Amino acid sequence: MKAAVLHTPGPPDQLRLEERPVPTPQAGQVLLRVRAFGLNRSELMTRKGLSPTVQFPRILGIECVGEVVADPSGEYAPGQQVAALMGGLGRDFDGSYAEYTVVPKTILYPFRSQLPWAQLGAIPEMFQTVYGSLHLALQIQPGETLLIRGGTSSIGLLAAQLASQAGLTVLATSRRADRADLLRANGATHVLVDNGHLRDQVRALYPPGVDRALELVGTATLRDTLTCLRPGGLGCLTGMLAESWSIPDFAPMDFIPATVGLTSYDSGQVTAPAAALQAFIDSVEAGKVTLGLGRTFALADIVAAHELMESNAAGGKLVVLPS
Ligand SMILES: NC(=O)c1ccc[n+]([C@@H]2O[C@H](COP(=O)([O-])OP(=O)(O)OC[C@H]3O[C@@H](n4cnc5c(N)ncnc54)[C@H](OP(=O)(O)O)[C@@H]3O)[C@@H](O)[C@H]2O)c1
Repeated sequence: MKAAVLHTPGPPDQLRLEERPVPTPQAGQVLLRVRAFGLNRSELMTRKGLSPTVQFPRILGIECVGEVVADPSGEYAPGQQVAALMGGLGRDFDGSYAEYTVVPKTILYPFRSQLPWAQLGAIPEMFQTVYGSLHLALQIQPGETLLIRGGTSSIGLLAAQLASQAGLTVLATSRRADRADLLRANGATHVLVDNGHLRDQVRALYPPGVDRALELVGTATLRDTLTCLRPGGLGCLTGMLAESWSIPDFAPMDFIPATVGLTSYDSGQVTAPAAALQAFIDSVEAGKVTLGLGRTFALADIVAAHELMESNAAGGKLVVLPS
């Protein structure tokens, strides 16, 4: 089979297309034909050498959709459509940047859909992260106001869409004023240009502050984001687009405004129920949700796909179709 392998962290062209044997599933594992996989910042960070626990060489890829080829336990029939994500995929063991992959059954989500693979490939990690951030961490309610910082990311665009459909008023940011139409088309009522200081812009619209905030830019902007929340409001740290992970000299009493809550979401720790994934796929199929797709690539073009992700010009989820 063909696989994109990273031997040494570095620029996109460190991803090398190689011939590898099709792996054999052991007990508790399933062999999948990978039909599509979405690209993730997690893989960008690993490729740049910012994932210290990942050993090389490694086939990257933390998610995919495809069909079961072989399940030694007989639980899944050949041809069953499945999504697989996280749980060490593409980090602790070889991942989805390949024509076939072997995954533990614990990270499989069976589903049924007529959608094209290019759309299905965009869904698993994007949906789980948005569902987990909005419903499990922020516990959003109709009528609330939600600030999404990093609004033009694929996670941000889907979060805006699902939150506005759930009856929230969405404020979404980009560093670029020319992306206002993209944000509005995905459900944002208010578009804010992020110059690093949002507090005054938010309070000009909502003087007490907003009810909920989804932080996708990361620790560098988190303090400013928390100042946008009303007393008793809640912020969720989900993304690290600015690639900084920690807060130097973190002093909670200074950092977190009194009575404001701070939570986080990590799809590796808490997952969405399988029924929620099927319901989401059904809503895409019914035209109730539009996936924010960037571009689709062949596996042979994995370097160009990573270059586009790193340029921040994708404008939606990037998907690779290996077979
Ligand atoms: N916690 C979890 O479980 C989980 C799961 C999946 C993803 N994530 C994280 O969620 C975030 C979004 O992921 P994604 O795949 O949706 O991203 P993406 O689509 O690749 O995001 C691209 C956007 O990021 C913005 N951006 C890039 N660098 C930035 C910076 N330094 N400061 C501010 N904005 C910046 C750009 O917006 P503008 O140029 O328009 O400003 C660009 O449009 C990432 O940090 C990812 O690691 C977390």
